[in-house]
Amino acid sequence: MTPVVLDVQHLSAGYGTQAIIEQINLQLTEKEIAVIVGPNGAGKSTLLKQIFGLNQHLGGDIRFNGTSIVDIKTSALVPLGISAVPQSSNVFPTLTVSENLEIGTYASPPADKKIARERMLALFPDLAGKLGQAAGELSGGQRQMVAIGRALMSEPTLLLLDEPTAGLSPVYLEKIFDLILQIRDTGVTILMVEQNARQALRIADTGYVLANGRHAHTGTGAELLANDDVRRAFLGGSAGQ
Ligand SMILES: Nc1ncnc2c1ncn2[C@@H]1O[C@H](COP(=O)(O)OP(=O)(O)OP(=O)(O)O)[C@@H](O)[C@H]1O
Ligand SMILES: [Mg+2]
Repeated sequence: MTPVVLDVQHLSAGYGTQAIIEQINLQLTEKEIAVIVGPNGAGKSTLLKQIFGLNQHLGGDIRFNGTSIVDIKTSALVPLGISAVPQSSNVFPTLTVSENLEIGTYASPPADKKIARERMLALFPDLAGKLGQAAGELSGGQRQMVAIGRALMSEPTLLLLDEPTAGLSPVYLEKIFDLILQIRDTGVTILMVEQNARQALRIADTGYVLANGRHAHTGTGAELLANDDVRRAFLGGSAGQ
């Protein structure tokens, strides 16, 4: 049986005492790509941040490789193998690409930094010629690659991505999704939030639709794409789009 990497059970979380997300259940097995979609304000980022130990845990459990991580600090989650790319401000604009990547090694130095960097640059060859350039001078798509590249420098087994294709052109969007598939093929389990829901569900093994902090629909990516209610309420347009 494929091992369960992330098991979220009846999770409630928020920013103070008020729950923003409630009764959330997710289960990701090794090398699975799971996608969370839903309207603005649904609680998608809150869920991702909670898994990464960043806000107020109010109930339920989060298990990573069988161990509960609800009381573990973010800085200690990275050495366990979890890495995350936040929704915005995810690069240090005045630092070079190289320095941004270096920061990814601070919380959990890889076994061999040189190998980790080479492995990362093999995935993002576009960055190889830009290592000395300030990250703030890059295009949105290139910046997104730096952010994901930095997250990979700690050699995670679980990668949390919050809207990795936000604001990108269709060509870059395809490129980022293609890279996500390649990252998965290296053995990484991926949980991502996406506004480009239709395209994201096409590469998703499992899809979760969140609305008002709760599960609205769960299924394989293909099932959600074929579901009339999901299409009408959350994806817009007809089946062929
Ligand atoms: N730091 C914060 N403090 C208090 N409330 C917050 C904070 N961040 C988000 N919220 C609230 O939590 C709710 C869910 O926000 P969240 O960012 O999780 O939504 P989202 O689904 O990621 O939306 P989007 O698609 O716009 O990114 C919103 O009502 C928001 O106002
Ligand atoms: Mg968000």
